[in-house]
Amino acid sequence: MPVDIKKVLICDAVDAACVDLLKSHGIEVTYKLKLPKDELCKEVKDFDAAIVRSDTKITADVIKAGSGSLKAVGRAGAGVDNIDISAATAENIIVLNTPGGNSIAACELTCLLIGTLARPIVPAGQSMKEGRWDRKLYSGTELYGKTLAVIGLGRIGREVGIRMNAFGMKVIGYDPITTAEEAKAANISKLELDQIWPQADYITVHTPLIPETRNLISSATLAKCKQGVKVINVARGGIIDEAALLEALESGKCGGAALDVFPEEPPKSEVTKKLIQHPKVVATPHLGASTSEAQVRVAVEVAEQFIALTGKSDKYT
Ligand code: MLT
Repeated sequence: MPVDIKKVLICDAVDAACVDLLKSHGIEVTYKLKLPKDELCKEVKDFDAAIVRSDTKITADVIKAGSGSLKAVGRAGAGVDNIDISAATAENIIVLNTPGGNSIAACELTCLLIGTLARPIVPAGQSMKEGRWDRKLYSGTELYGKTLAVIGLGRIGREVGIRMNAFGMKVIGYDPITTAEEAKAANISKLELDQIWPQADYITVHTPLIPETRNLISSATLAKCKQGVKVINVARGGIIDEAALLEALESGKCGGAALDVFPEEPPKSEVTKKLIQHPKVVATPHLGASTSEAQVRVAVEVAEQFIALTGKSDKYT
């Protein structure tokens, strides 16, 4: 049954390809970024659908405010953790996402961050800008021969494994669903978590944030790791217990961390701020999906799904 979508509200910075595609199918588009919650609640009443990335939270209150008009919410991104799915389901609101469009972008950022943990590119570059030439200060370590643990062997995790293998890293991984054969096809040896902690030189997480993965990297798991283990999170804030990570960085148990995502974005807590300032931490502001290619892909994908809902496309019907 076609869904009557005539007016769409875009709440986060989504590529113009989305707007063009919707408009070319007769759908009216309004772009309103960074709406405070109460304004968003007022606005949604006038729209059939909304599109978000990570910044806008479609909470139960927003869903309630839009009830009666809102028929679909689309996320130009992989997860749907900023959309209250049960509230949407209760109101018969369809929730869509674009799971594949960002994978390569997130994978490549992960690989680059692993590189910056091995070689102090960020501080060395900064020292040059400050007019210094400190060759001795910025020596690093090789990735060759080191063990990378990939926790979460979905699209992104497997692509990370394939690329880091080319650096001569031994790649091990864990996933409750991906089979050992599927992991092996990406040159990753699938192990149990307890086998992984003591072997890993680097740990990168690629899971959704769900109750089972919240604080997966904790004081207890870090205690089982090698001295100097390095951790990378381009997935979701909350998978790493930030207080435990800070303590481990200070004690030397953790030799470095690269963090692209945080429990609260933009970060507000003192612990997160201390982590960002820590000399062994490379922090980026949730840039995993931020490549021009990925943004066009997810923008087109979310628009195509909306158009399909209206029955005006033969692509998904
Ligand atoms: C994703 O889930 O794909 C990203 O976090 C989306 C984004 O960058 O907003």
